[in-house]
Amino acid sequence: MITPKEFSAFAASRRSTRDFLPTPVDPALIDDILTDAMTAPSWSNLRSFMVGVATGERRDHISAEILRRWDVVARARSGGIRGILGLLIRPWAWPISDYNLVRPYPKELAPRGRKIGAELYQVLGVARDDLAGRDAQTASNYKFFGAPVEIFLFAHKGLGVYSVSDASLFAQNLMLSAHARGLGTCAQGSVALWSKAVKREFNLPRSYKLVYGIALGYPSDHPVNSYGAERLPLSDMIVDGV
Ligand SMILES: Cc1cc2nc3c(=O)[nH]c(=O)nc-3n(C[C@H](O)[C@H](O)[C@H](O)COP(=O)(O)O)c2cc1C
Repeated sequence: MITPKEFSAFAASRRSTRDFLPTPVDPALIDDILTDAMTAPSWSNLRSFMVGVATGERRDHISAEILRRWDVVARARSGGIRGILGLLIRPWAWPISDYNLVRPYPKELAPRGRKIGAELYQVLGVARDDLAGRDAQTASNYKFFGAPVEIFLFAHKGLGVYSVSDASLFAQNLMLSAHARGLGTCAQGSVALWSKAVKREFNLPRSYKLVYGIALGYPSDHPVNSYGAERLPLSDMIVDGV
């Protein structure tokens, strides 16, 4: 058993990795990490989620397909009637996710999102008005930040929010297990924007929806991997009794 102090230090040392080495991850290691993830709690032990592991050609193909769609959307966003028309006549590129990827954020939470966004762009050296730089960072999400493995989480439609909770508890164990083994991870809601492009790559029952992806691999020494998103004080999370 690890001591409470060891656990605290370990949990606090996990950070999202946003730049990976191309070094492949041994399939046996991926298996060990997924096995650890299965020790997570689950609603009624239903394990109401499924997991798609994309490596090699499948990983590259999904990334390319998402990038193809993003390219059409980015052209439409950067203005100009041609870009908008280009998107309109390419319905396959429309970003249609299985869950509502909430935008804009609720007013009271939005400043937290702006803070992390601004800090990350600063570490990456992307100026506020550098739209091309921002688009390139968005695209790097779709390249899975160079990670050789992307793990997709799908949640059963029939259990509402609790299947997403099951998938997310699995995800947290997965990310901690990877961290314990010297690997990095980044949860990626961004890759859930074009759910069809992902789901068609797996023999997935129709009752499952794409929740998000997790990039997995060995972290590079890029400064972005040393960025530590600040934590709000715990007291901000605690609701007072009446
Ligand atoms: C469900 C979920 C989706 C996320 N999606 C993205 C994403 O698309 N791109 C990204 O760079 N980070 C993403 N993140 C990572 C968060 O930005 C990160 O966890 C947060 O800023 C805290 O930083 P830390 O993980 O380094 O502690 C996501 C995290 C979660 C839990």
